[in-house]
Amino acid sequence: MANIYVVDRDGSERAVEVQEGLSLMEALRDNGFDELLALCGGCCSCATCHVYVTPPADGALPPLGDDENDLLDSSDHRRDDSRLSCQIVLNAGLDGLRVAIAPED
Ligand code: FES
Repeated sequence: MANIYVVDRDGSERAVEVQEGLSLMEALRDNGFDELLALCGGCCSCATCHVYVTPPADGALPPLGDDENDLLDSSDHRRDDSRLSCQIVLNAGLDGLRVAIAPED
């Protein structure tokens, strides 16, 4: 188990307990963040699971993949901290991760 902090599109922040081994996208959906559409189901082909992430000081995110990078380029809302949440598998080192759901494209 790890705790992450999620800011939805209304700006409300909520701490949620997430299970390691799930993708961040799955954890967000399981915790009721339905504004994260994740239309492709995690196949890295839709970019509707776009989030902004701040890893904990001692935690590392998996590296950005080529497909993920290309898809993020299609978003008008891409920032330096953009990631596709389906491409981040949660682990204990990500306890304290901060996530904001990106605006819809
Ligand atoms: S769910 Fe479609 S790219 Fe992540």
